Amino acid sequence: MVSLKDKDILHGNQFSKKEIDAILRVASEFEKELKQKSSISLLKGKILATLFFEPSTRTRLSFETAMQRLGGGVISLGSVEGSSVAKGETLIDTVRTISQYADVIVIRHPRIGSAKEAAEASSVPVINAGDGAGQHPTQALLDLYTIRKEVGTPKGLAISLVGDMKYGRTVHALVELLSHYQVRLFLVSPDSLKMPEEITSNLKAKGLEVVETEDLMGAASQSDLIYMTRIQKERFSDLSEYEKVKGRFIINRDFLTQLKKKIIILHPLPRVDEIHPEVDTYPGAAYFRQVRNGIFVRMALLAMILGKR
Ligand code: NCD
Repeated sequence: MVSLKDKDILHGNQFSKKEIDAILRVASEFEKELKQKSSISLLKGKILATLFFEPSTRTRLSFETAMQRLGGGVISLGSVEGSSVAKGETLIDTVRTISQYADVIVIRHPRIGSAKEAAEASSVPVINAGDGAGQHPTQALLDLYTIRKEVGTPKGLAISLVGDMKYGRTVHALVELLSHYQVRLFLVSPDSLKMPEEITSNLKAKGLEVVETEDLMGAASQSDLIYMTRIQKERFSDLSEYEKVKGRFIINRDFLTQLKKKIIILHPLPRVDEIHPEVDTYPGAAYFRQVRNGIFVRMALLAMILGKR
């Protein structure tokens, strides 16, 4: 029996294959249920707190949507400027305080390891919604859910992850989940934005075929799925370094004509220029379906953590 009751969600490597399967199964049940009705009263009386120290559109709003669709309530720190963080309150004290109010906390913070610190300070479960260039496990779960819906099992797929492998927390978390399957990974990035060595060596140790390359066409033309990412401009200490790599990898309709016919394109969003809007009407452009899947996966996580599934 899989149980996530009272557990923190901090890192892509924390899940067993059984747990992943269970979360995605519950997500799919909620997706079906939401076709019949607009809400499910499973978490009535429960409160989710969202604590975002970095910009967010999808992650915060989909967590809030998920909680409300399950009948629960949401409190939010709102802007950092409007809270006591602006007076110099520490993350630890902020989290200690909020854990007195809420039953579960979702946090996004610019520092790697911050979600773990928050979890240690909190008396209620903490979900990492992005710790700097570290991890973003709930995004990875919804990415995997999307892959399974769009293509089926990831087993045997060739997947190109493209863009910022160094600072991209979504890809750091996603490869942890994909390491449970026999996938072939092309990590396509500028040389200066390669995936951290400890991650790639770990993938190889698990028997995955990993190719690091700067050749987008070479990798994409062999792939069943392309996962595009934004170059994480805000992580560069030297903006001239960003200028050197921005706009390096761009997908447009013409590019698609040279790939496998049924290629699926994902992106955690927001995009800047890496997917031309003309790609949006291509049937395999799945990134807005991917956005929607975030609700079901986050509903599953909230319900399971709060012991209702
Ligand atoms: C990503 C993030 O914040 O890490 N967005 C998201 O959560 N969907 C990706 C990004 O900002 O580029």
